[in-house]
Amino acid sequence: MVQDCEQGKDDLSSIKLIDIIDFELLQRFQDNFAEAVGLASITIDPDGNPITKPSNYTKFCMQYTHSTACGDKRCAESHRRGGEEAARIGKPVVFECHAGLIDFAAPIILEGRIIGTILGGQVLTESPNEKKYCKIANEIGVNEDEYIEAVKEISVLSQKRIRSAANVLYDIATNLSKSAYLFIETVSSLTKLIGSRDHSTGTHSKRVRDIAGLIGRRLRLPRDVLNDIAVSALLHDIGKIGIPENILNKMGRLTLEEFAVIQLHPEIGYNAIKTIEPLRKIALYIRHHHEAFDGSGYPSGLRGQEIPMVSRILSVADVFEALTADRVYRKAMKFEEAIALLRNGRGMKFDSVVLDAFMQCVDGGEVVGSEQSYLSQRKTCCK
Ligand SMILES: [Fe+2]
Repeated sequence: MVQDCEQGKDDLSSIKLIDIIDFELLQRFQDNFAEAVGLASITIDPDGNPITKPSNYTKFCMQYTHSTACGDKRCAESHRRGGEEAARIGKPVVFECHAGLIDFAAPIILEGRIIGTILGGQVLTESPNEKKYCKIANEIGVNEDEYIEAVKEISVLSQKRIRSAANVLYDIATNLSKSAYLFIETVSSLTKLIGSRDHSTGTHSKRVRDIAGLIGRRLRLPRDVLNDIAVSALLHDIGKIGIPENILNKMGRLTLEEFAVIQLHPEIGYNAIKTIEPLRKIALYIRHHHEAFDGSGYPSGLRGQEIPMVSRILSVADVFEALTADRVYRKAMKFEEAIALLRNGRGMKFDSVVLDAFMQCVDGGEVVGSEQSYLSQRKTCCK
């Protein structure tokens, strides 16, 4: 059993911005936007927590407002309310934050649900009223005089300029939402397609995703690679759609000719999705998920580092999951036997670094044997 397995992760309602966005691109945009316009920017999750690094943040906010727990909490709440209001009216919202600065919010919406908000601001439209900032300083627990000095350094921009900046953020947020939605829809449709052809392959793919994700996190791979692992795992057997039914679900042993047909599935999968631009990288990972570290795998006989890291991780997760599931022609292998078999492949079929990470997941109790839930009542066809 894999912890967190099948807890609704495929449901679009569980998708977070953090799962789908190109963070490097967003961070670059934010940094440049903030610098060019002369204001601050950040992207937050639906609870108001930051998911990008702050761009061009002011001393007023960084050194003072965020320096106390109270100030921090009030900021998160202010950001969250701004995002919600923008989502409610469907356009950018310009508002005064809890600390008296002008902010604006542009929601990123997926299927009518806010998955994040890009915020800009930390500016003023007129010179600050000292009394007002004295009161805020006392409320959040910072030094009055220093707070007033800091607010005097805040840029004063015209309403028109702020509104234009808000519109730019809104357009970017809308485009991010659209591409995120398209990507999720594509992966979701393809995953359903796999499940409709063979339910067990769909279940197998989700379990491979969970195991591969554990390995990726053990290896401390960056977030974008973890996302690639998840998508590649869900789609890794998509090529089986092109394998004839009588071979894919044959009761009994496959002939050499039939096994050769099965071995076409990584290439079929690669060809099926390689022209979908956002999945081009994924197509390559899928193509090589049956390569072996010593070069004895297929379809290309790649060896060692020639095999993409994501494919090497898929390979371990795929084999373990397939071994511990019932097949149409044999019962599932016992957990301990499967572990021993994988161990025997260390440095040969499997990359030792990846296998060691998997074994750490086993030793750490993240992947455990369970006669009831893991080894029974499932039939997978991953040959
Ligand atoms: Fe496969």
